[in-house]
Amino acid sequence: MKITYLILGVTLIALTSFTRENFNVNYEKKMTPTEQTSDGEKLISKMDCVGCHKLDKKLIGPSYLDIAKKYPLNEKNINYLTNKIMKGGSGVWGNIPMAAHASLKKDDAKSIAKYILSLKK
Ligand code: HEC
Repeated sequence: MKITYLILGVTLIALTSFTRENFNVNYEKKMTPTEQTSDGEKLISKMDCVGCHKLDKKLIGPSYLDIAKKYPLNEKNINYLTNKIMKGGSGVWGNIPMAAHASLKKDDAKSIAKYILSLKK
């Protein structure tokens, strides 16, 4: 009888420590940086934006600082620029059209828009 209890006890301890370890692994996985942490600045430097935009100089498109000066940082402007980044278009800064970025995720476009608008000093 005693031995049965002992085996049961050991099994129980082994089982609980195993699940706890599993839990820790899951927890750590959640905490490691994933795509979610990549902010607008990282995205912007990885994409084709650099070919037409610069931080403080007009290239084919307006500089990010000029854009930030034109639009105050608020929800309405973030949404407007999120759309513009995804759909492209022309007529605001001149006749040259901005390229569309249809494959860009909306959340990513939004973090780019937020990043640009937060550049204003
Ligand atoms: C082919 C060149 C080109 C590329 C590539 C490009 N842009 Fe533009 N961008 C422009 C032009 C030109 C304008 C001005 C459009 C206008 O006058 O409406 C512009 C305007 C903008 C604006 C201001 C929009 C407005 O309505 O005021 C933002 C924000 C912007 N671009 C962000 C980006 C981002 C972010 C990327 C990369 C994902 C990007 N652009 C890639 C050419 C480009």
